Amino acid sequence: MVEKNNEEHMSAYEKAAKEGIDPRCIPQKLDGPVPIHNEIVYPAYSDEEHDIWKFLYNRQMSFLPNRAADEYLEGVNKLNLTPDRIPYLKDISNVFYQTTGWKVARVPGLIDVENFFQLISNRVFPSTDYIRTKEELDYTPAPDLFHDIFGHMPMLTNKSFANFYQKFGIASLKANPADRKQLETFHWFTVEFGLIKNSKGTRIYGAGILSSLGEVQHALSDEVEVKDFVPENIVMQDYDVWHLQPVLFAIESFEQLEEGFNYWCNKKGLL
Ligand SMILES: [Fe+2]
Repeated sequence: MVEKNNEEHMSAYEKAAKEGIDPRCIPQKLDGPVPIHNEIVYPAYSDEEHDIWKFLYNRQMSFLPNRAADEYLEGVNKLNLTPDRIPYLKDISNVFYQTTGWKVARVPGLIDVENFFQLISNRVFPSTDYIRTKEELDYTPAPDLFHDIFGHMPMLTNKSFANFYQKFGIASLKANPADRKQLETFHWFTVEFGLIKNSKGTRIYGAGILSSLGEVQHALSDEVEVKDFVPENIVMQDYDVWHLQPVLFAIESFEQLEEGFNYWCNKKGLL
């Protein structure tokens, strides 16, 4: 991995972790192969853990009508997500494989960016398989399976989004530290906090909003300034990972996301 001895080029997560907040926020470097696709084993979840999934799923779903993007809700159906039990990553991986050619890898937590980019550049989505505790229902500082599955995975059944995300991994591997910082900002305002405009209004597709109780109620409110999708502007936008977002960007289609990202990367020589 690229040595990061310069604060300017540290990611927002790295800076936060450096301030000593929660060890789960410190990315781990993978020290060997991780189980992928049909190699993934279903953990022995307790009844309490299934109940946490059910509670989070039902609570978050109750906010999604007229808020979540159609493409996201279609993805929830394709993946057969239900509140009944924690999904099996292997089953999700098989749906991915049939719809967009992606697979799932089971990872132990927040992983090193180099590992992350390697995986997604090969159309493999790294996911945790543990769930937050009862005490963390409203907020958890680090990703868990609820964020990874409920937040991220439905969009990976969408062809344009899935293509874009692979390109994101490829471009990130090639990028120098300054470009990586811009790519991380782009990721924040699309994959994690992206909005989309459709004929009925503005909708959410970002995983960080869809899996968060506070953000899902805040993102479409008058308190948020929604800007048009312009990659050159997105990469210059400041953000704070620890607070509700005051500025978001809306795409008009996932084709626009894919094409706009390609164009921006080509201009910078990253694709
Ligand atoms: Fe995420």
